[in-house]
Amino acid sequence: MLKSTAAIIFLGLSAVTMANAKTIVAHRGASAYLPEHTLEAKALAYAMGVDYLEQDLAMTKDDHLVVVHDHFLDRVSDVAAKFPDRARKDGRYYVIDFTLAEIKSLNFTEGFEIKDGKMVAGYKGRFPLMQSAFKIHTLEEEIEFIQGLNKTMGKNVGIYVETKAPWFHKQEGKDISKATLEVLKKYGYTTKDSNCIFQTFDYPDLKYVKTQLMPQMGIDLRTVILITTNPTETYELKDGKWESFDYKYLIDPANMAEIAQYADGMGPDYNLLFDVEKSSKGHIVVNDFVRNAHNNGMIVHPYTIRKDRLPDYVVNVDELYDAVLYKADADGVFTDFPDLGVKFVESKEK
Ligand code: G3P
Ligand code: CA
Repeated sequence: MLKSTAAIIFLGLSAVTMANAKTIVAHRGASAYLPEHTLEAKALAYAMGVDYLEQDLAMTKDDHLVVVHDHFLDRVSDVAAKFPDRARKDGRYYVIDFTLAEIKSLNFTEGFEIKDGKMVAGYKGRFPLMQSAFKIHTLEEEIEFIQGLNKTMGKNVGIYVETKAPWFHKQEGKDISKATLEVLKKYGYTTKDSNCIFQTFDYPDLKYVKTQLMPQMGIDLRTVILITTNPTETYELKDGKWESFDYKYLIDPANMAEIAQYADGMGPDYNLLFDVEKSSKGHIVVNDFVRNAHNNGMIVHPYTIRKDRLPDYVVNVDELYDAVLYKADADGVFTDFPDLGVKFVESKEK
């Protein structure tokens, strides 16, 4: 399948030689097989032949950026056992309340929740809970790990950083986006040619990044605006009050030209590419989302394909890769199963 014009422009700006015609992003590493965001999960994904490894980021009390999905620690670590008195009133253990040394003392695991006092895995078929020994690490440590692998493996796998909840970090007096860009600049990611994409769900913060931070720092990285229907993902300051950001602004075609001033691409929940009500197994109804984004010069990298959590409208994971990447014509996709994504794209492109 020919790449979209937007994808060609986007890739043309990059020095990356893309292994695949469609971009495969390892979502939190090879997170279907090893605990998310551990270096072990990143190494496995790297070996599976992905184009990008994803880094979700939160800030510690002592201003380090750690690679972790939630701005809480309790879903993926033994923080509640090690620091029982450190939860906030809502019962959560916030990354921002712990130093890097404290976080490094924790053991990390596959994601879980507590039900009737017992740990229950989020995904039953995945790596056993609290088995072996896993730690998390800083953004600097992960970049050095990937750059080291790029050297030894002779490849140029990219990084795909996400500042988690910039609005929350602002409420706590921290500028996570500035801290992230400083680390990226230190490691040589400074232009759209760099093999790095900066993503966020926080559209007001993305505007701040593009119009203030990047120009002030003399850098200009590629950016992706993430889109979710979850009203608690992002908040914006309106008349001095933090209000839920309405994602509908980001999917309205009338706004895409404006959004494209700040974003090189869009990262929607993949369901936003389809008419879900009208789609059924063997009958996928694609909407205009990707076409509208492409018409405005933006690429589309939806999230997250998981073989162990499929939507009702597909029979199997290959049908979902096909629907997202070929029927809807997205330029790439985030997946917990990078091996399956790479294999599927290779089977389509040969
Ligand atoms: O960044 C793409 C995808 O990872 C967004 O969802 O919640 O897994 O970060 P989330
Ligand atoms: Ca993410």
